Amino acid sequence: MTFPITRHRRLRRTASIRNMVRETQLTVNDFIYPIFVTVGTGVKEEIPSMPGVYHLSLDLLQAEIEKVVASGVQSILLFGVPHDKDAVGTSAYDHNGIVQEATRAVKTWAPQLVVVADTCLCQFTDHGHCGVIHHDERTGTAEVDNDASLELLVKTAVSQAEAGADIIAPSNMMDGFVSAIREGLDEAGYEMVPIMSYSVKYASAFYGPFREAAHSTPQFGDRKTYQMDPANVREALREAEADVVEGADMLMVKPALAYLDVLRMVKEHFDLPVVAYNVSAEYSMVKAAAANGWIDERAVVLETLTGMKRAGADIIITYHALDAARWLKGE
Ligand code: PBG
Repeated sequence: MTFPITRHRRLRRTASIRNMVRETQLTVNDFIYPIFVTVGTGVKEEIPSMPGVYHLSLDLLQAEIEKVVASGVQSILLFGVPHDKDAVGTSAYDHNGIVQEATRAVKTWAPQLVVVADTCLCQFTDHGHCGVIHHDERTGTAEVDNDASLELLVKTAVSQAEAGADIIAPSNMMDGFVSAIREGLDEAGYEMVPIMSYSVKYASAFYGPFREAAHSTPQFGDRKTYQMDPANVREALREAEADVVEGADMLMVKPALAYLDVLRMVKEHFDLPVVAYNVSAEYSMVKAAAANGWIDERAVVLETLTGMKRAGADIIITYHALDAARWLKGE
């Protein structure tokens, strides 16, 4: 009988040894917590498919911000759910728009909290697309007009920076959006505001609950002419490369779970911080299974977030952020 010389179990024997050899450390510094802000007063409405996530009006936002600060999470991502929508998404770049107002308010309550502003038009257009629509009378077709959309996205980003956003996060997937926004921010005097680019954003079914939450389902067609085909990874590198050249400060891959290979590729090819977006349906599935008693929510969430970090994420945007922060403290 021969015995193994190499015994992997030696380094797994006690919790202290496992702590010493652990390769990936998940910390509260990794998280960005998304918040949906809406117009009106007294609104705290739970999003049915996302238990624990709410639509909040500004008067009830302060309590939520206090919870975030107390949790130790240092950054939030603001999504606006406006009342008024039109064909060109006017409320996205309104000086008194919902995201702009919320940003100003948060910066007075918690100046040190990093406010990331999602820069897109889909919540603000009546057709629900991320840009403006060009109708071709001759062919009777309608398409999202790239360059006309860029101008409006630049206006949106500048108005968000003006309101005090610390980071601009464009999620629209138009071509050239990073350079357009960079130029617009610089011209307006916001050359120090970084761009967290949704570089690699797939046309994913995992955004379903978000669209219910943000009322941003496209009213016709889908987003496949601007968001990426889930089957492609070399194209993801082209997207990320373009954003690097155009001046992005951070690169995002979205969704996260079904795309961890893409995340790893982006991490290996580029030296910028990489962001993983643990999207709405990834959250909803965990919540649904946990509510049925089928999984241990705490263990599954921490394992999932650790997996994203191990795959290459420097930063994770997640609706689990406040819970995870609590669990990491051992509560
Ligand atoms: C806006 C946007 C979307 C998400 C973030 N920003 C939806 C979409 O592109 O349809 C999805 C976030 C999530 O599912 O949690 N363009």
